[in-house]
Amino acid sequence: MLFNRVIILSAIWAMVATHSQAQVKTIQNSTGKTIGWNVLTGSSVYQMMLNDRGEVIPVFFGSRQRAEQLLRQDRARGNGPFQLNEVPVRGGFADKIPIVEVSFADNIRDCELVFDKADMIRIDDRDVLRIVQKDSHYPFSVTSYIRTLPELDMIEKWIEVKNTSPKESIQIENLLSASVLLPANTYYLDHHGGRWLNEFQLQKTRLTTGVRTLQARDFSAFANSPWFAVSDQEDADHGAANVWFGQVHYSGNWRIDLEATVAGHLQIAGGINFWDTQWKLDAGQSFITPKMSFGFTEKGTDEAARLYARYTRNEILRPATKDKMRPVIYNSWYATGFDVNEEGQLKLAKLAKEIGVELFVIDDGWFAGRKDDRAGLGDWWADAAKFPNGLNSLIKKINDLGMDFGIWVEPEMVNPNSELYKKHPDWVFHFPNRKLNEWRHQLTLNLAREDVYQYLLQMMTRLLKNHNIKFVKWDRNRGLSEPGWPAAPQHMQKEVRIRYMNNLYRLIDELKSRFPDVLFESCSSGGGRPDLGMLSRMDQTWTSDNTNPLDRLFIQYGYLAAYPANTMVCWTTGYDPSTINLPLDYIFDVAMQGVLGVGDNILQWNDSKKETAIRKISAYKAVRHLVQHGDAYRLRSPFKENKTAIQYVSADKNEAVVFCYNMEKTMEGARDANHTARNLLLQGLNPEALYQLDDKSKTTVTGAYLMKAGIAWPVTGAYRSIVIRLIAQKAVKDNRN
Ligand code: DGJ
Repeated sequence: MLFNRVIILSAIWAMVATHSQAQVKTIQNSTGKTIGWNVLTGSSVYQMMLNDRGEVIPVFFGSRQRAEQLLRQDRARGNGPFQLNEVPVRGGFADKIPIVEVSFADNIRDCELVFDKADMIRIDDRDVLRIVQKDSHYPFSVTSYIRTLPELDMIEKWIEVKNTSPKESIQIENLLSASVLLPANTYYLDHHGGRWLNEFQLQKTRLTTGVRTLQARDFSAFANSPWFAVSDQEDADHGAANVWFGQVHYSGNWRIDLEATVAGHLQIAGGINFWDTQWKLDAGQSFITPKMSFGFTEKGTDEAARLYARYTRNEILRPATKDKMRPVIYNSWYATGFDVNEEGQLKLAKLAKEIGVELFVIDDGWFAGRKDDRAGLGDWWADAAKFPNGLNSLIKKINDLGMDFGIWVEPEMVNPNSELYKKHPDWVFHFPNRKLNEWRHQLTLNLAREDVYQYLLQMMTRLLKNHNIKFVKWDRNRGLSEPGWPAAPQHMQKEVRIRYMNNLYRLIDELKSRFPDVLFESCSSGGGRPDLGMLSRMDQTWTSDNTNPLDRLFIQYGYLAAYPANTMVCWTTGYDPSTINLPLDYIFDVAMQGVLGVGDNILQWNDSKKETAIRKISAYKAVRHLVQHGDAYRLRSPFKENKTAIQYVSADKNEAVVFCYNMEKTMEGARDANHTARNLLLQGLNPEALYQLDDKSKTTVTGAYLMKAGIAWPVTGAYRSIVIRLIAQKAVKDNRN
């Protein structure tokens, strides 16, 4: 043992004593020398020690209770003899996932870090532990930041590397944001897997020995999103199960590696994906990685999802708009496709207003030459044939109806058939002597270029300044190919993806500061760009182009594992490839799980459908504060049964709403093996409060009863749904903590 019992016990003492004070506690030896740190949250501890070689070693990440137990048993160093650095580097034995790989001017490619200093700072009102390590020989320093969010049981980690040489550059070949190490155990990974029209499908796999990589290589998050959750139990949805979870806050290429060792330890490392990427760090320069957030809970993956949702709502979404109720949208895409004009949109808008819509959004097709997807991207002014009076004429009429106006754009793209491309063919990513791969007849603008950045900034500024636009749907309809920039200097060739992302973030940030009241929606052919890097800039996400409610039950259930409901945009559209002819009530009930929108061709609706829409939109408005700002409890999973239920509970627990859905038809009793007829147990209520159920029964029941005995499954018949509201009879104090 490197540390004696006295030291360790004093460490645990410090942990207990400082629960509601400092979130980071240094561990000192008997002479007062710092020998480690406990980074504390409500129920977790992230512990690091300084070993006698002056290296910073992560020794435990997990339950505070477990850490205390280990300390009592004198086995505080939870990872036993397994050691890696807090910042694993390429250098020495290559048996861990390195998060720093650099090459120095003399071609030495190994790095050796030793501890230099540590201190506590505050960043955005939170405690941050800052640890500086330096290369033992070269002018290179690595600063680790660990920011604590104790009430959310989460920490944020990122690193900053600095070239401290006065003259020589350092080549960065790989630079991830963070690494964590989990104690030896058997682990199961939950992650998203999917594709266009089938995003956010929950996948589970046992992590056997070796590396499992989740990643994006073309800027798209269809196949995975940059989120993971691992548990030491296979079925960890609800109840007592240890779950570690995390996300990379980045919208470009990212990767998360999970390496299970033979001894059972799990190293998780993530950040920017340096595949085909490098960065030249000139003398005196620094590179700061994107953040990676991590959390720990002993209450299963559904609790992990709630922690992430609270974190994203409170800490990630833009402060100016995070608490704003998201409006009910009408979007024209499914109704009119590219065939938009003032008269047609106005007809839709009048009816949209009647049914209760608050924001009318004109989708693709409004700009010059955009007859179909073969032309127009890049020429961002209103098509004169479709809008002879300009956009303002339509916007004024929509505003006069009492609705805000929103618009669709796809700034990062260009059609070869556009004025922009004809003027600037060199503005797209391309390699000479290589095929220019079009997708949906479009190419990607090279936003790493300053002139492209300036063009897009001017274009968007002109659009938002000259029109009363309150909402922007920012789309991106293709993955990246041939990321070439022939005119750039040699060293920048492999920097283009990072430079692109830097400028994309810079562009959105600048627009945000120029137009702080405008809401932004992130979209990428559906749910291809949902990450926290984007959600810190955009207010919501288009979840999927697949609006079929039966598929949406899976997509939305999966989305909510990582992201909050007030970012999950869901429309009714009448898209029903199954030809089941789903009831409109059911379609609305599915879309009401998130930010409600209507996308149907409502001009074709009969009176009964209009009445249904009016009733449902009004019902949504009555519960949207719960949906958008409450805690989501995913009570029953469509991935496991042919029925599903989601409950949203207000922070004070005085109100809740439960959405219950039956899915496919089965023969009576055919699924009894799954006990699908069992009572529905609610969660997250105040056990002592009396709740009135807003169903046929109008019963008043205690929270304890609803959570222990539950209610009989309330839906009968395939493709039927029920929404039940619960209101506590007497206001009660929030006793969550
Ligand atoms: C893809 C989006 O996901 C759709 O909602 C729609 O905006 C189209 N692009 C328009 O081209």
